[in-house]
Amino acid sequence: MQRTQWYKDAVFYQIWPRSFCDGNGDGIGDLWGVLSKLDYIASLGVTGIWFSPLYPSPQADFGYDIADYYDINPEYGTLDVFKQVLDGAHERGLRVIMDLVVNHSSDECAWFKESRSSRDNAYADWYIWRDGKTPGAPEDGGTPPNNWDSLFEGIAWEYEPARDQWYLHIFAKKQPDLNMDNPAVRAEVEKIMRFWLDLGVDGFREDVITYISKTEGLPDDNPLMPAARGMRFYDHGPHVHEYLQQFRRNVLSEYDCMTVGEAPMISAEKALEYCDEGPDQELDMMFTFEHMSADCVFTDWIPRPFDLRAYKQALGSWQTGLAEHAWNSLYIENHDHPRIISRYGSERYRVESGKSLACSYLFLRGTPFVYQGQEIGMTNTHLERVEDSADVSTFNQVARLRRLGLPEVACMKLVNRATRDHARTPMQWDAGPGAGFVGGNGAAEPWYPVNPNYVDINVAEADKDPHSLLAFYRKAIALRRKLPVVRDGSYREFKRASKSLFAYAREGESQRLLVVCSLSDQITYFSLPEGYDPSQASLCLCGYGDAPVEGNGFFLRPYECRVYLFEG
Ligand code: GLC
Ligand code: CA
Repeated sequence: MQRTQWYKDAVFYQIWPRSFCDGNGDGIGDLWGVLSKLDYIASLGVTGIWFSPLYPSPQADFGYDIADYYDINPEYGTLDVFKQVLDGAHERGLRVIMDLVVNHSSDECAWFKESRSSRDNAYADWYIWRDGKTPGAPEDGGTPPNNWDSLFEGIAWEYEPARDQWYLHIFAKKQPDLNMDNPAVRAEVEKIMRFWLDLGVDGFREDVITYISKTEGLPDDNPLMPAARGMRFYDHGPHVHEYLQQFRRNVLSEYDCMTVGEAPMISAEKALEYCDEGPDQELDMMFTFEHMSADCVFTDWIPRPFDLRAYKQALGSWQTGLAEHAWNSLYIENHDHPRIISRYGSERYRVESGKSLACSYLFLRGTPFVYQGQEIGMTNTHLERVEDSADVSTFNQVARLRRLGLPEVACMKLVNRATRDHARTPMQWDAGPGAGFVGGNGAAEPWYPVNPNYVDINVAEADKDPHSLLAFYRKAIALRRKLPVVRDGSYREFKRASKSLFAYAREGESQRLLVVCSLSDQITYFSLPEGYDPSQASLCLCGYGDAPVEGNGFFLRPYECRVYLFEG
């Protein structure tokens, strides 16, 4: 099979199914809803869809806890409806990639149910079971095998009386880690991949894929580490490359598909180990978090003021670091982060900052992903109480903060800054009841409250307005797809030290694209760099209604952005 690298021309739209569109009127997003919105998705000019998990799941982590890898969550539809979505997408020129979550499964997966039932069964070695340091149940003084932290829920171990052993869970208790060292587990991963590829899907987004190989002996971490103890023993673990190469060789290389691996902690240099386009290539691209840490330290829960230079530095290091060797993925929102306008932009200049942020990444080298609602400028919601959250990781963070003695008011402030709920409020389709998210007769309550600003911020409203963020996204995506230089050109940054402007060019032989984005509410002058003659420039995009030029440059109004093309 010839792999064509079609993904280099692709633009993806990410759907988090529970909150995208409810077709059958029970208040939960589903595939019938997606079917009804395929034309809308195609109207954005995107060429693919990434589905966050659609599989049967108890939803402890909203599908990132899979109970059956070969089926569709009945709340969302059936395999038949999925087939219809797939065909409908393909008819519209949209490829479809699935989320593949194989670092862990749900504890309600048949494999785990059997695995936990005894030390001696067909699945006994499919998960990471260890004896406690001190034997026995925790209530009898038994202690866990090591001192690792779960990233989602307390310690990383849970005791199972039937085996008198503990299982490892890097995420929530209901997400036991699979034992990838077991060849039978790897064979099963191959089977899952083939199942979906044979059904017609075009690839995978591989969840926390850098965590799948754990250091032998699972050694204790430094007890003084304040959080995420153990991570250095499983992130980029000893066999990760061997296993990913196996999947590539045995399955992925036989299909013209694409893969993007999620890598919570990775630099551009490290990414080359996974996606350098040489004979040992494992994945086609990685999702980095580096540029998503420009207003926080390590996680969204340790805040700092937005630092544009950190954002530019992170993006730039991937542009130049991967250059001709590997391909980038590009994103500024997904289901794990608060809304970007509320973070890096300005709710006061919502539309302007939304446009500027769009330009800050859509014209870089790589495959862009747009998250549902990002294209209409959805913003963070407001939680009154911790109980308003639906997110297991938020509860964990709050428990941690309370243990540290943080007062409740301060806790709530952090929740409102960092919780993943912001990205998971229902999609705002129109100003009607339930924001047009609820199907059927529209009477059901949405599973999670709609952001009250849906009355003003919604697709129907934006569709009517030629200056809306939605209209801008459509133009920007079309421009990106039209100009070969955006795919192939080299990357050059200007005004690196600026704390208000992000300016870069994509340079090819016959075309050069200059992108200037203000991420400040101050008026700032930008003078064109040497070799860029304003009289030769044609304006492709501007975040404001007009684009006056003064001298050898122009003034950018609050959060203004412009894109100029230079030809010849
Ligand atoms: C990834 C997913 C996130 C999930 C976690 C555990 O980071 O994006 O939503 O909670 O993995 O599966
Ligand atoms: Ca539904």
